[in-house]
Amino acid sequence: MTNGRKGDVRPIMVAGNWKMNGLNADAEHLTQAILDAGLTPASPEVVLFPPFTLLPMVHQVAKGSSLRWGGQNLFWESHGAYTGEISGAMLRDHGCRYVLIGHSERRQIFQETDEIVLKKVKAALHSGLIPMVCIGESEQERLQGNTEEVLRRQVEAILPALGSAGQQANMVLAYEPIWAIGTGKTAGPEQAQEVHAFVRGLIAAKNPDIARKILLLYGGSVKANNAQSLFSQPDIDGGLVGGASLQAAEFLQICQAAHVVARGL
Ligand code: 13P
Repeated sequence: MTNGRKGDVRPIMVAGNWKMNGLNADAEHLTQAILDAGLTPASPEVVLFPPFTLLPMVHQVAKGSSLRWGGQNLFWESHGAYTGEISGAMLRDHGCRYVLIGHSERRQIFQETDEIVLKKVKAALHSGLIPMVCIGESEQERLQGNTEEVLRRQVEAILPALGSAGQQANMVLAYEPIWAIGTGKTAGPEQAQEVHAFVRGLIAAKNPDIARKILLLYGGSVKANNAQSLFSQPDIDGGLVGGASLQAAEFLQICQAAHVVARGL
């Protein structure tokens, strides 16, 4: 479901997933460098996902700016005896507007299932957070021709939490093919576009209005030298950046690429 006029309904977003990297000094430096670049609020919207321990620093440095940030995970209960877990309210308390859910590293290393992902999406929405839900196939699944089946399962699992027509989209999706994460292998722009169009189609089958409005980000070895060609695709609304988000100069070049694409829409 290609929409050649995406700029009319969907802003471009660039998100940086720092994963388990960084100490306070790094967070201060990176956040300040992004603020100093003077990004405008509209294009692109920039969202940082630091580890939990760095949220207070990001909050302190970026408070009142157009920069947004979020947690990399949350637990579905609101409070109680859940040692080691973090609730949506705790993230909100640190100024978070977003939360990453279902990243492939959590699905693979921490055995998060589609059921768990849905519980977390509902908990995030209940706390007033915008979930950024990650989906994507492994190399083996792609080679076996199962990409669409895997994505259908992952998308259909979260559809019960999708907003109603007439509202703004209440979540963001990030397509991150697992074989492209941290490997330097990127899905080609046309290959990624094909998958994004498929995913938008899955959402359209449930709710065409939200399908037009929902942001679908691409993730997996997004760098300064491939960002513009990816973000120019009609159904790719920006990127979720891992490794390259840890270097201010590289990350800012990716934001700049998004800005150029946004201006051309
Ligand atoms: P890389 O950009 O390092 O490939 O990581 C992508 C990712 O997993 C972002 O969530």
